[in-house]
Amino acid sequence: MNLENNLRTTTQWEIIENTFDPDQLVTTGSNFMIGNGYMGYRGTFEEWEAKDYVACIVTDTWDKAEGSQWSELCNVPNGLFTQLFVNDKLVTVFDGEITDYYRALDLRNGLNQRKMRWRSSEEDGVQLEVEKFASKTNHHVLAMRYSFTALQDGTYRLNTGIDGKVWSIKGEHFKSYTPFEEDSLLGLSLKTYEQDTEIAVVEGIAFLENTPEKSEITITDKGCFRELEFTLKKGETVTFQKVVSITHSNEVQHPIKLAKEEVSQGLQYGYDTLKKEHQQSWDSFWDRSDIQIQGNPEAQVLTRFNIYQAFIATPTHANLPIGARGLSCQVYQGAAFWDQETYNLPMYCYTHPEIAKNLVTYRFDTLPGAKRKAQNLGYYGAFYAWTSGKTGDELFPDYFFTDVLTGRKIRNHFNCWQIHISPDVVYGIWLYYEASLDWDFILKHGAEVLFEVAQFLVSRVHFKKDKDRFELIRLLGPDEYHENVDNDAYTNYLTKYALEKAIWAFDTMKEKEPNRLQEILNTVGIEEQARNDWSEIAELIYLPKPDPKTRVIEQFDGYFTLEDIRPDALRKRLIDPGEYWGWPNGIAVNTQVLKQADVIQLLALFDGFSDEVLTANYEYYEPRTEHGSSLSPSVHALVACKANHHEEAYRYFMEASTIDLYNASKKVMSGGSFLGGIHTAAAGGVWRIIIEGFAGFKVKTDGIAFDPAIPDAWEGISFKLFVKQCLLEISVYKDSFHVKSDRSNTDSITIDFRGQQVSLVPGAAVDF
Ligand code: BGC
Repeated sequence: MNLENNLRTTTQWEIIENTFDPDQLVTTGSNFMIGNGYMGYRGTFEEWEAKDYVACIVTDTWDKAEGSQWSELCNVPNGLFTQLFVNDKLVTVFDGEITDYYRALDLRNGLNQRKMRWRSSEEDGVQLEVEKFASKTNHHVLAMRYSFTALQDGTYRLNTGIDGKVWSIKGEHFKSYTPFEEDSLLGLSLKTYEQDTEIAVVEGIAFLENTPEKSEITITDKGCFRELEFTLKKGETVTFQKVVSITHSNEVQHPIKLAKEEVSQGLQYGYDTLKKEHQQSWDSFWDRSDIQIQGNPEAQVLTRFNIYQAFIATPTHANLPIGARGLSCQVYQGAAFWDQETYNLPMYCYTHPEIAKNLVTYRFDTLPGAKRKAQNLGYYGAFYAWTSGKTGDELFPDYFFTDVLTGRKIRNHFNCWQIHISPDVVYGIWLYYEASLDWDFILKHGAEVLFEVAQFLVSRVHFKKDKDRFELIRLLGPDEYHENVDNDAYTNYLTKYALEKAIWAFDTMKEKEPNRLQEILNTVGIEEQARNDWSEIAELIYLPKPDPKTRVIEQFDGYFTLEDIRPDALRKRLIDPGEYWGWPNGIAVNTQVLKQADVIQLLALFDGFSDEVLTANYEYYEPRTEHGSSLSPSVHALVACKANHHEEAYRYFMEASTIDLYNASKKVMSGGSFLGGIHTAAAGGVWRIIIEGFAGFKVKTDGIAFDPAIPDAWEGISFKLFVKQCLLEISVYKDSFHVKSDRSNTDSITIDFRGQQVSLVPGAAVDF
């Protein structure tokens, strides 16, 4: 179902749902979630259990469940678990009569709220109000305020504690559960199966209004609970606050001790104080990251929703990856894909460089894993994991999809042929460097990554003597429907780019920091001669060029000879709607239908292609693209902007920004795999569309440039950028453009507006 009609907003800062739809548990649980990059707590209800997709996914807890080959993040026991009984009947949205139903996500303050009035068939009733957040000031902490008012005299019972029976995609992650009660706190200490990671979940509560007459603690094998009883008169209210801390031994030395201290301290501060600090921290995030859209409230809230989701998926407390589904569930193993560099990193490079730095440093930290992967497959250097967790070793399994017609597993080669991931990492490093001018990062970390990737590429290319060129064979480009292809345009162009960046780092260091260069060469285990290999390949690598007549770039060798059919016609060939379209026997394999278009991806990321080429390729590939990937709409929007297809660009903006909120296009199941959750890359892509597409922002060596085209449906946009160490305030309207350099800047910056250049000193502003 399309959820669009079920949602509303009053301030352009919140998502409000007024009708509960039991068929949308996966989607709404993700959409209404709270989080802080350390944990993601789904927007489910306190009385719900594993079957309702309740989850609190914690980063840096990668582990293989009992009997599983898949390393994934753990879903930890639910410390906010609370069931309310009115005269022994459970208050739940699944049963009884619900009125004044309200579930909201306050994007500005990172709060999840629920209100509802519930009555059973016997007319017993209660008014419920709950608010919760995942603290942005202490990432281990969840806080909740739970309040209910009796609608008639009666006995009201609460069961609140920690529910250890959690939803876990690949099975049981905990080999031991040790529940305890200590100093009025309840706790669960867990040990994971594979890694022996110790995880602690501790909770404490305090009553703010009314207190229970009876109170009892129940300890079960996987949980601990407080049974609390109240005899209330009609109109009486009970309110309590709950503080939960979740810690683990991959981050802290004594998880239980720390969790207990944090809960006790949190209860001392109280919910309101914790909330105030949390809100202040969100304020400072939005102060830098908000994009204000004038004249279109729907686009405004969609934009904020996507920035919110991208941000709560990002670990800001450590150098850890952004998962392809963030922390909304265990899908894609909580691990980074190329999505991180190409969709999520840009927003941070230009707004919060300190977060961007964590992300690129993560790629340095995981070099050993990338080197192991290269070595295992017979290459040199660093072949980054398609699915990258804590160590950078490849987490993606050989068998991912299942042939739904035969039940047999499909051997996909995402993990060994999708080599563009290594140059994508270089793309991220360069993006960060160009935006931040952080040369120190290149010296300490970046150059080593660039050299290791270059070495990998040296070992991966083939020299074709007869053609006097280097080629790349047996590839899988971003378009995953076509495996085992040669000379994929995206991969070949990126390979050249990555080698050129390694050469740039080499040459710059040779001139400025020869000793450091020598150190890195020693670490990588190469001689200066390596630079010649890089430049020879960069010069001679085959780049599929636009066809002289049509200007279309062939996606890979032989692509144009495949059956030319459109996605809708092809879809009719499906025997089962859940079939996988790609390798080896999927319906798209022998056709030109694409999951996502590699050439469009190339044109979206790089400049230098003529208007003619942009237009020809957009018009060729767009109708042949099925958008089986949530990454696809945003690059289409970006290229549509460049190719002056403004209406199309807006259509794709709407598609990218509503993928999760309106749940209009994504299936929860594909090729037999559960793929629900937040599409984090699409969320990051929304930022790119607005800033790089509609505002036409571009970083150049000597400054920054803008060439805006505001959608017809909007009046204007205002936003901040932090680029080349300058904080800028920008407003773009259909007939005017304004940039102001913040007073705190220490240097001037060159702004290019459609060819007109101005050097802006700190505190100055310019209008075009
Ligand atoms: C896409 C990949 C992407 C992955 C994780 C797949 O469906 O085809 O490009 O990296 O999802 O988001």
